[in-house]
Amino acid sequence: MEKTGGYYEKRYRGIVKALFFFGTRPEAIKLAPLVRELEKYPRSFDVKVCVSAQHREMLDQVLDFFGISPDFDLDIMRKNQDLFDVTTDALAGIKKVLAAWRPDWLIVQGDTTTTFVGALAAFYGGVKTVHIEAGLRSFNRLSPFPEEVNRVLTTHLSTLHFAPTQTAKKNLLKEGVPERNIHVVGNTSIDALHLCLKKVQAGTRYSPAALATVNPMRRIVLVTGHRRESFGGPFEQICRALKILAMDGEAEIVYPVHLNPNVRKPVFSILRGLPNIHLIDPLAYPSFVWLMNRSSVVLTDSGGVQEEAPSLGKPVLVMRDVTERTEGITAGTAKLVGTDADTIVKETRRLLRDSRAYEKMARAVNPYGDGTSCRKVRQALLKYHPAARERS
Ligand code: UD1
Ligand code: UDP
Repeated sequence: MEKTGGYYEKRYRGIVKALFFFGTRPEAIKLAPLVRELEKYPRSFDVKVCVSAQHREMLDQVLDFFGISPDFDLDIMRKNQDLFDVTTDALAGIKKVLAAWRPDWLIVQGDTTTTFVGALAAFYGGVKTVHIEAGLRSFNRLSPFPEEVNRVLTTHLSTLHFAPTQTAKKNLLKEGVPERNIHVVGNTSIDALHLCLKKVQAGTRYSPAALATVNPMRRIVLVTGHRRESFGGPFEQICRALKILAMDGEAEIVYPVHLNPNVRKPVFSILRGLPNIHLIDPLAYPSFVWLMNRSSVVLTDSGGVQEEAPSLGKPVLVMRDVTERTEGITAGTAKLVGTDADTIVKETRRLLRDSRAYEKMARAVNPYGDGTSCRKVRQALLKYHPAARERS
């Protein structure tokens, strides 16, 4: 890892050129508030956004909500793309952008293939990388796949590491990242959530139109799922569990189905047309937050949803065997239930039928942040650029 501090103090006297690089829905949600934060200080930061568009429709939904128009759009998404497609297309695209604009920092987030490729390209091109949401580890290379390896590689390609929690910082220290290059700032997902909640609660109508057929008197079990390691058998198990829960008739199951064909195929073939199940398209972020707030229980394998639901006091059953977000488990608001149908059914029924078990998990806690992460990132970045700091 390179030294920061003195080296930068000598070299950077002007405005800090910051290039954001992201491609999927969750990266966009978590970086949008940081784009906005840096843009508030044009005398200190020159901000540009490059999207790989590893996701297309699901990315554009987020860009629309936050009012971000990318300066560079690599537009790489292909239907049913594989990891090789994403890696090679994104690498070739970002190479050109880095060469053309020469940022001081490339800012990436999380653990997608776009994230890793961005850090790799910056390393090859002699540009320093800032990694947001650094240090998450499941300690299993195959779960989540390929995200665990993407995270580790991104760490070792990056210069500055913004860890959401102390646990994440400890993971980075164990891998030899110098402490001076790690900043614990919380997760920017909670900044995004706060921004979004303000709008959702301000009375603007974000109730998803697709919910028109949901009985308003009944509880909602909200479901999301998309992990690659669950394709095939585990997804079939998840769908079997949802079918049994639907037959119970105790709640309405609402499932905004990810656009990945490997998800849509089993979900629609097993669950389409069943009573009490509502299979809908991915929701725009504020509508999804509205729905999460209206739900009683959340069943998910999503990383971001595991961070957001505890903030809203919603119990989360995590349909995975391991998680890198252990803080929610420790706080008692999330529980790992794996992908076995019987276990998912048992744990969901327990929450729907046993009010004490429910109340125990339904506490609003924020182990992942307090909505001030972006400000902290900006302040930390400016420490490496004294001239820009004086002007902010
Ligand atoms: C990707 C990330 C994963 C992240 C997830 C968030 C990798 C390897 N995976 O997984 O870490 O948690 O995004 O959702 O980086 N599709 C569309 N429209 C869209 C988005 C996806 O049609 O807007 C379909 C396409 O057929 C695409 C497929 O979904 O080929 C898979 O997309 P991809 O980004 O490769 O994988 P995800 O499972 O979405
Ligand atoms: N989300 C959304 N619409 C949906 C489902 C999820 O906007 O229909 C948001 C959710 O609030 C969270 C993010 O998408 O912020 C999570 O994305 P995803 O589960 O695709 O990826 P992960 O977090 O697992 O990487």
